[in-house]
Amino acid sequence: MKHEIFEKNSILLVIGILVVVSIGGIIEIAPLFYLENTIEKVQGMRPYTPLELAGRNIYVREGCYNCHSQMVRPLRDEVERYGHYSLAAESMYDHPFQWGSKRTGPDLARVGGKYSDEWHRAHMVDPRSVVPESIMPGYPFLAKTALNYQKIAEDLQANRSLGVPYSDEDVAGAVADIETQVNPDSDNVDAFLARYPKAQVRDFDGNPQMISELDALIAYMQMLGTLVDFDLYQADAFYR
Ligand code: HEC
Repeated sequence: MKHEIFEKNSILLVIGILVVVSIGGIIEIAPLFYLENTIEKVQGMRPYTPLELAGRNIYVREGCYNCHSQMVRPLRDEVERYGHYSLAAESMYDHPFQWGSKRTGPDLARVGGKYSDEWHRAHMVDPRSVVPESIMPGYPFLAKTALNYQKIAEDLQANRSLGVPYSDEDVAGAVADIETQVNPDSDNVDAFLARYPKAQVRDFDGNPQMISELDALIAYMQMLGTLVDFDLYQADAFYR
């Protein structure tokens, strides 16, 4: 029995294991060096607007990811409940991504447009006012706290250094863009929408007197999952 050589000689066995494992490893890893891109290109993805980015920062700060995932898996029950399964490209501008690993609450990858702003306002202040059995904590202070956005351009720049394609104009106009997105009467809306297609422009928290943290968080939640037009991708989807 030739196998005896390995069984009686541990050093040879270790070398043998290493050889076999590295063959498997090379077969898995080598193609990644030849592929130009492992993320399929999809139409519609754009970087976050400064207000959405500020909302995302609040989402991370408050630890919403501890109870909410943002990734719909390609399993029938999930697709039926949440919508089209998540594409890698949908989180390509997320640094860090918010896929999460725990679902105490529902997945939020496609929550945009599911509820009205009023619903979100009531829900964030006191979740049990709209979902009586909810165990989600309330965040009533968000509506009362003014958003600190004077340094938002630095956030855009940090994202740009990680490969998010913000233009110089986006960075220079970041503070003004936040003020534009909550004010539909602003003269800058058209220029803003040209740079951020499909961005939603309105007063999200129902209080035009102040740009609050709640404005930013609702703007972020209302855009989640709304950028890619899935009618274009249904044809080759596994499930609907
Ligand atoms: C302790 C766990 C927990 C934390 C932390 C938490 N949530 Fe929730 N969330 C839930 C649960 C449970 C539900 C389902 C009941 C409900 O709608 O309130 C929920 C529901 C939601 C929904 C409605 C989703 C849907 O499709 O119906 C939104 C939106 C939401 N949460 C946003 C947030 C945001 C934003 C934060 C952070 C500021 C947050 N949650 C933090 C547990 C949590």
